[in-house]
Amino acid sequence: MILRSPAKLNLVLDVLGKRKDGFHELRTVFERIDLCDRIALVPRKDDLVKVVCRHPHVPKGPKNLVVKVAQRLQEDFGIKQGVTIAIDKNIPVAAGLAGGSGNAATVLLGLNRLWHLGLSRKQLAAYADSFGSDITFFIYNTSFALGQGRGERIKPLPVRAKLWHVLVTPKVKMYTKEVFARLPAAGNLKLTIKKDNVNILLPYLRRNAPSGIGRALANDLEAAILSLRPELAVLKRKLSDAGACGVCFSGSGPSVFALARSKGHAGQIKARFDRRYAQVFVVSTL
Ligand code: C5P
Repeated sequence: MILRSPAKLNLVLDVLGKRKDGFHELRTVFERIDLCDRIALVPRKDDLVKVVCRHPHVPKGPKNLVVKVAQRLQEDFGIKQGVTIAIDKNIPVAAGLAGGSGNAATVLLGLNRLWHLGLSRKQLAAYADSFGSDITFFIYNTSFALGQGRGERIKPLPVRAKLWHVLVTPKVKMYTKEVFARLPAAGNLKLTIKKDNVNILLPYLRRNAPSGIGRALANDLEAAILSLRPELAVLKRKLSDAGACGVCFSGSGPSVFALARSKGHAGQIKARFDRRYAQVFVVSTL
């Protein structure tokens, strides 16, 4: 079974406060993009779960979410068959694009079919939540969604927009946990309650209006990301200067994306960044 495992961007990421369980309450707009890994699920004669992947930073053992997902399903449903999960990585790792989370969701959806588990969307979403905050979005077959709670409470958005972006992933390590830990204490997080960035964005998104969408892009993790990596401000500014409608970090970074007016416009912006940055992609809504 060969599957496509997409990435996401956050067009808006509002942090509403810190919760008692240590996670942060979010309000975010996810966009699924056409930057995808390819995953092959190959049934095995034994009962092992094996990961095959050439990428040096993808864990091959039980640290990989796809292994946790497969082993949990084996246990819960008494499945005696093992599976080799071959991952062909195109999505940068630990980059704010939810590549690993998307892989976990794709394997969950794939094994539900391969092993004839008959899990409903709601049951799949419950499994997804238990492995991480960003996995559930990919369970819903939707291009755009509102994410609330830890990011796992998903409401698909009936929006037809097709956006074009230039995505730049600098080669620096960024840990989600570390970025969240740099946010100011809960009491100081009220800022975004006053400014509802989701509701500022949505009317423009419904009209597929790049200039309005560009102005509405927002990420409350930006200050925390820049405090860890001040040099990323230069990249943001360069993308703005290159004529983008808007520029924003995705998730906890370090990926930065520019919103372009069209595919051609995205190509023009990309051409100015190709030489200086290793990982530059033109991506669009999937
Ligand atoms: O859920 P996930 O494993 O992706 O989260 C990684 C880390 O990011 C968490 O351990 C937590 O420190 C932080 N996080 C958070 N609030 C969220 C999502 C993630 O504080 N809503």
